[in-house]
Amino acid sequence: VTIFVPGDSAALAVGADKVAAAIEREATARGIDVHVVRNGSRGLLWLEPLVEVRSDHQRVAYGPVKASDVSGLFDANFLEGGEHPLLHGQTKDMPFLSRQTRLTFSRCGVTDPLSLEDYRHYQGLKGLEKAIAMAPADIVKQVADSGLRGRGGAGFPTGIKWKTVLDAPGDRKYIVCNADEGDSGTFSDRMIMEGDPFVLIEGMAIAGLATGATKGYVYTRSEYPHAIHVMTEAIRIAREAGILGPSVMGSGRAFDMEVRMGAGAYVCGEETSLLNSLEGKRGIVRAKPPLPALQGLFGCPTVVNNVMSLASVPVIMDRGAAFYRDYGVGRSHGTIPIQLAGNVKHGGLYETAFGLTLGELVYDIGGGTANGRPVKAVQVGGPLGAYFPPSLFDTIFDYEAFAAKDGLIGHAGIVVFDDTVDMLKQARFAMEFCAVESCGKCTPCRIGSTRGVETVDRIARGIEPEKNRALLGDLCNTMKFGSLCALGGFTPYPVMSAMTHFPEDFAPTPLVEA
Ligand code: NAI
Ligand code: SF4
Repeated sequence: VTIFVPGDSAALAVGADKVAAAIEREATARGIDVHVVRNGSRGLLWLEPLVEVRSDHQRVAYGPVKASDVSGLFDANFLEGGEHPLLHGQTKDMPFLSRQTRLTFSRCGVTDPLSLEDYRHYQGLKGLEKAIAMAPADIVKQVADSGLRGRGGAGFPTGIKWKTVLDAPGDRKYIVCNADEGDSGTFSDRMIMEGDPFVLIEGMAIAGLATGATKGYVYTRSEYPHAIHVMTEAIRIAREAGILGPSVMGSGRAFDMEVRMGAGAYVCGEETSLLNSLEGKRGIVRAKPPLPALQGLFGCPTVVNNVMSLASVPVIMDRGAAFYRDYGVGRSHGTIPIQLAGNVKHGGLYETAFGLTLGELVYDIGGGTANGRPVKAVQVGGPLGAYFPPSLFDTIFDYEAFAAKDGLIGHAGIVVFDDTVDMLKQARFAMEFCAVESCGKCTPCRIGSTRGVETVDRIARGIEPEKNRALLGDLCNTMKFGSLCALGGFTPYPVMSAMTHFPEDFAPTPLVEA
C-alpha cells in the first residue's frame, strides 16, 4: 500500500515528518508492508498534514493527521479507506479540489516531486518534446497566442517579452526565474518548487529554446530552504537524465540552470534589483530603459519571468495555445493559482480560470473567516495591493477589473481580515513596510514612506486630522507617480484604499488639549 504524507513546508510546519515516522513505526509494529511517499501539497492547507492512501488506483484522504492519530487510523483500517472522523473520502472528489481547474498545478500533491518517472507518467515533458520540434519563433508565437500574462503581478504578455529577447542581438542570453516570492499571503511559487519542480525546469528549458538563451537561474529567497533543496535536487536529476545540459533531450541545443539564493530584501523581487543581486551587487533598482529583455543579466538579453508564468508554459506547449486561451475572461486568459490566506476558514491554493468574483473566492471557496467573525476587508496582491471592502466583492478576478477599482491582483494572494482590524494601522504598516524595504534610490519612496508613517501617526493622535488626511493623499500621489519602481509606486494602494473605503478608522476622536 502506498501512503502519501506531504513533504511541503506547509505540512512540515504542522508535523508531517512526525506523522510519516509514526506511520512507518506503526506499520512495522503491526507487520504491515507500507510504502510512504513524500508528495507535495494538494493546497488544502487547513487539512495539513493531509495523508492519502492509494489502493486500486484511487486515493482517499485523511486530515489533518497528528502523530497521535496514527494508531487509531490503523485500527480504523485506513489502509483500505476505513471510516474515521478524519476521513474526507476520495481526494479528487473533495469540493475544494474538484471545483478547481488545475493546469499549472495538475501534478502538485499527486506525484513524488523528485520522481522523473512520475513526472513523465503524468504528462510531464510533453511540452518540451513538442517545443524541440519547433522553430524558436513558433514557440514564442504559441506562448503569445495562449494569452499568458506575467503572473508576478504586472500581467505583461509573456510572448511579447520572449519575442523581445528572441529578436535582441547577442550570443549570450539568459532565462531568470523570479522566485523571490515576497508578497504577504502568497506561496504558489514555493508550492510548485517543492511539489512539482520539474514543471519549472521544463518551462525554463522551453523558454531557453524559444529565445536562444542557454543558461537559466532560479532566484529564490533564503526563507525557502525546502524549495531550494528540492529544486537543486531536481536540476541534478534532470541534468543526469539529459533534460538539461549541452543537448536538451538530444536536441543538440544547450540549456542548463541553477538555483541562487537571495538575502532577504523584498525589493529583490523587483526584476532589475534582482538582476543586480544575481550579479553579486547590492539589490538596488536600475532605471528602465534599458529593459532587461534587451540588457538584463550581465548586460545580456534576459527573460525575467515569475515561477508561475514559466510553470504554465509546459501545458500551453503540450495542449496548444487555444486550449489555454479559452479559459478566463476578457484579456485575462488561462488559469490563475489563487492563494487564500489570513483569517480564512479554508486557506490554501485554488487554481481556477480568471473570472470568479472576489466574494465567491472569500465566502464560497474560502468559507469566510476562520473565527466566524464578519469579514471587514481583504487585501489582494500583497503588501502593495489595495484593501477591498465587502461592498466591492462583486469585482471579478481579472487584471483589468481590479485595476478599474484601483486595485491589483498582483501575485494573486488574498489576505482576509475580520471586523476587528484597524485600517489606519494597516495603512501605517504599508508606509512602514515601504520605509523598511526601500532600496533608497529615489526620494518619493525613501523619504515619502517615513513622512507617511509620521502623517498616519498624527491622524491617529487626532492632530489636525483633516489637514493630515489631505497631506497623506498628496504624499500618496507623489509616491505613486514619482517613484522609480513598484515598491514606492504601489504603497499608495493599501494606504489610499484603506482611507477611501474605511474612513471611519481615520476619524479618531479629536485630541483635547489640556
Ligand atoms: P512593469 O509593468 O514595469 O513591467 C512588467 C514586465 O514587462 C517587466 O518584466 C518588464 O521588463 C517587461 N516589459 C515591459 N515592456 C516590455 C517590452 N516592450 N518588451 C519586453 N518586456 C517588457 O512592472 P514591474 O515593475 O516589473 O512589476 C510591477 C508588478 O510587480 C506589480 O504589478 C505588482 O503586482 C508586482 N509585484 C509582485 C510581487 C511579488 O512578490 N510577486 C511583489 C511586488 C510587486
Ligand atoms: Fe528604490 Fe523605492 Fe525608488 Fe523602488 S521606489 S527604486 S525601492 S527607492
